[in-house]
Amino acid sequence: MKFTNIISLCVAGVVFITGSVAMAAGDIARGKKIAKKCIACHTLEKGGKTKLGPNLFGIFGSPVASVKGYKYSKAMAASGIIWNEAAFTEFLTKPKKFVKGTKMSFAGLKNAKQRADLVAYFKSLTDAAPVSAQMVPGDAAEGKIVAINQCKVCHSFEKGGKIIFGPNLFGVYGKPAGAVKGYNYSKALLGSGLTWTDATLIEFLANPEQFIKGTKARFPGVKSAKKRADLIAYLKTLK
Ligand code: HEC
Ligand code: HEC
Repeated sequence: MKFTNIISLCVAGVVFITGSVAMAAGDIARGKKIAKKCIACHTLEKGGKTKLGPNLFGIFGSPVASVKGYKYSKAMAASGIIWNEAAFTEFLTKPKKFVKGTKMSFAGLKNAKQRADLVAYFKSLTDAAPVSAQMVPGDAAEGKIVAINQCKVCHSFEKGGKIIFGPNLFGVYGKPAGAVKGYNYSKALLGSGLTWTDATLIEFLANPEQFIKGTKARFPGVKSAKKRADLIAYLKTLK
């Protein structure tokens, strides 16, 4: 592992101490099955050989294009991605949309639960104790503006803020879904078993009603990946 990686992982570790409740909602065993879709082109075991794509052992938390000797596309090599939950999730949704010009010909995984399971599995492919990857490079100040524009009609964000149409969102990051006392959640949300981490918030914010069928959070979602990352960065500051 390169020195810079070690530093970034350390930084991530510090940042995540407070967020250590933030576990992926995904299921590793299910993720392993879904990863069969990847092994046509990728080996997943440590030291595995290059197929059409690079070996993916230890990919989670690393900078993009870090497998020595693999010839990446220019697009991928120049993307600046760190493979954290957010990047992985967006990439797997539609590889060619997230990294325009990638040579990975894979249509993407339409199912949000499958993506979360896969993320959980890839996190487990490491020698080190699992370290949550670096935070989304979202901008909290930008996220606050998005929240004012798109969420405030239904949510308050300040500590002890009142219930509007949706629950107060102070401290929501890292908590289980449905944790605000006194708010009458839908059965769908209460039964979801989710914890609000980067991965689950990205999916929820992209399309709430698709991610949690039967939720009463009836808003169309935030289409821009950048805005979702900004929002999550903002939600993380509310504690
Ligand atoms: C049809 C072959 C193919 C399939 C199937 C495929 N990949 Fe890839 N993958 C590639 C290629 C080729 C690259 C290199 C892309 C580039 O350089 O633009 C790549 C790159 C990647 C990278 C970036 C690696 C790095 O070192 O930065 C990740 C992550 C990845 N794939 C994950 C997956 C996952 C997860 C699946 C299964 C859901 C999958 N891929 C399925 C061919 C494939
Ligand atoms: C039209 C009203 C409406 C808008 C706009 C809206 N929400 Fe919600 N939201 C709700 C409702 C209602 C719930 C409760 C859902 C349930 O119980 O199924 C909810 C639930 C949530 C939850 C889960 C809270 C918990 O305690 O588990 C989060 C997180 C959330 N919304 C974030 C956002 C963000 C961020 C935005 C802005 C991008 C937003 N919402 C915009 C109505 C809205």
